Amino acid sequence: MMKNILVTGGLGYIGSHTVVALHEAGFNPIIVDNCSNSSPLFLDRIAKIIGRAPLFYPVDVCDKKSLNEVFNSHEIQGVIHFAAFKSVGDSVKEPLKYYRNNINSLLTLLEVMNRHPTSTIIFSSSCSLYGDAKEQPVKETTPLEKSQSPYAHTKLVCEEILTATCFSEPQLNAISLRYFNPIGAHQSTIIGEAPIGVPSNLIPFLTQSVAGIRGPLTVHGSDYDTPDGTCIRDYIHVVDLAAAHVIALKRLLAKENETNYELFNIGTGKGYSVLECIKTFEEVNGIKVNYTMGPRREGDVVKVWADTTKANELLGWQATFDLKEMLRIAWQWQLSGNL
Ligand code: WQD
Repeated sequence: MMKNILVTGGLGYIGSHTVVALHEAGFNPIIVDNCSNSSPLFLDRIAKIIGRAPLFYPVDVCDKKSLNEVFNSHEIQGVIHFAAFKSVGDSVKEPLKYYRNNINSLLTLLEVMNRHPTSTIIFSSSCSLYGDAKEQPVKETTPLEKSQSPYAHTKLVCEEILTATCFSEPQLNAISLRYFNPIGAHQSTIIGEAPIGVPSNLIPFLTQSVAGIRGPLTVHGSDYDTPDGTCIRDYIHVVDLAAAHVIALKRLLAKENETNYELFNIGTGKGYSVLECIKTFEEVNGIKVNYTMGPRREGDVVKVWADTTKANELLGWQATFDLKEMLRIAWQWQLSGNL
């Protein structure tokens, strides 16, 4: 029997790629998504790749009654919880919206799981919770500095909720994956990042700018304490990231986890500045990026990249794509007309 895996936010950017990876690994993904920042059209896109449309419930994870009905309707062996708001900048402007949605959705999910036999959950965490860390690359044990945005703080609070719940409920098995900066698209270019409105993340803005949909890219800050003055991030291919979820899920289902709550950094281990990304994009795609230097953006950390030793050794997971490959497919996705 194929195992049913509930994927909240399964029509979103990382969610849709993970649904494809789950299907390929022999799982039966069931999607729950309220489409607040995703499109129901992605169901057909996923179907085009995997040859069938997965089950989809247009449900808000904060809606306990409806979520409970989904759990009543299926025997769910595991949950991957993506559904959340994810813009650092928006969270500074609308903190209550972020706290309400991101924390409430996890609480609701854990309460509903508690009423059912499902005890396996993977949580979407973020490198942003390291804040301006004192050491780079950051390890899972690196002390967390002050959150630079409400978004980052919601991820920190959610991790603490999981820590406390796993302590009090030994039957619960959870893994938080701390993603670095996901970019790129599926090799088919049938799915990829499809932001609604003006993109706030670097690569979608950059590709839309180059495509002429937006004006010049603004580099947010050029006076940071980094070699070229721009922020440094660890960009990870969304397909590598999706694969990490499948591996983490298998670890939990096989009860190979060492404790009932584990954390892993999921990045490449390499940091690139904003200017390096622009330069690499121009080189690999043979096209100019029109950009200007602007002021710093509220909520940004200066630099962060991952020490991935723990994920490499315990999960046996490793990033396989480099920045060039990620920026090549990001541009192909923009050109595909599938956005
Ligand atoms: C990357 C760099 C910007 C836009 C956050 C979360 C992370 C993940 C991705 C959800 C920064 C600079 C950006 C632009 C720019 N979660 N930039 N001009 O904020 O590092 O990461 O989003 O999406 O968990 O922490 O990602 O892509 O917004 O920014 O110069 O128009 O690009 O200042 O240095 P971020 P990002």
